[in-house]
Amino acid sequence: HFSKKINPEWHGKKILVTAGPTRENIDPVRFFTNRSSGKMGYAIAEEAAALGANVILVSGPTNLTPPKGVKFIPVESAEEMYQKVMSNFEEMDIVIKAAAVADYRPKYTYDQKLKKKDGELVIEMERTKDILKTLGEKRVHQTLIGFAAESEKIEQYALGKLEKKQVDMIAANSIVAEGAGFQGDTNELTLYRKQGEPVHIPMTTKSEAAKQLLEVAMNLHLEKNK
Ligand code: CTP
Ligand code: CA
Repeated sequence: HFSKKINPEWHGKKILVTAGPTRENIDPVRFFTNRSSGKMGYAIAEEAAALGANVILVSGPTNLTPPKGVKFIPVESAEEMYQKVMSNFEEMDIVIKAAAVADYRPKYTYDQKLKKKDGELVIEMERTKDILKTLGEKRVHQTLIGFAAESEKIEQYALGKLEKKQVDMIAANSIVAEGAGFQGDTNELTLYRKQGEPVHIPMTTKSEAAKQLLEVAMNLHLEKNK
């Protein structure tokens, strides 16, 4: 039996959401990370579960409580996130990558705490794997949605990512706009697809933005798999 709230097209759909920042270790006590709170990704996971989907949430370290009814997979580094996303990818219907994945990590992670010395410290950084781009290359039937948080030229960068990562949609937001971005409870998004006009989601709660994003995502998914 399902309750009236459950939308039939979502029922049993397998959705993987990534959220939060990643953490790239320098030594046992220090790491590189970013300002992602995880709120947008958690809101998407929660709303998708409420719609009746089977949701996996792969999350970097956040202060948030995983939503009820979601399979929660905590990770730390970009590499760990890559492994967990890849091992679950094949059976997914829709993947939504809201995580702020580190682009670089320290080339060496020290086993012991680094001791200070006179003079400067140089930490060599190497690229992490681009998880979403890899999904774009490997996907078969899956619908792929990425995020792009930009400080300038939002449309240009979002369209570039749509193309380069071979995904179905990029949800872009400005990290400088008031009320949008990493830490707050509200967001304003523009959804760019390969076809059709961009869909603008005006400033609203992250839960409401998540609902609207999921609606567009499901329409894309149904259209592709018709
Ligand atoms: N992404 C990913 N793996 C990475 C980096 C990014 O899966 N190593 C995903 C993010 O989760 C997001 C999308 O790619 O859904 C866009 O991330 P973003 O940081 O905006 O784009 P980048 O391609 O990393 O480009 P840049 O940071 O230079 O803008
Ligand atoms: Ca990046």
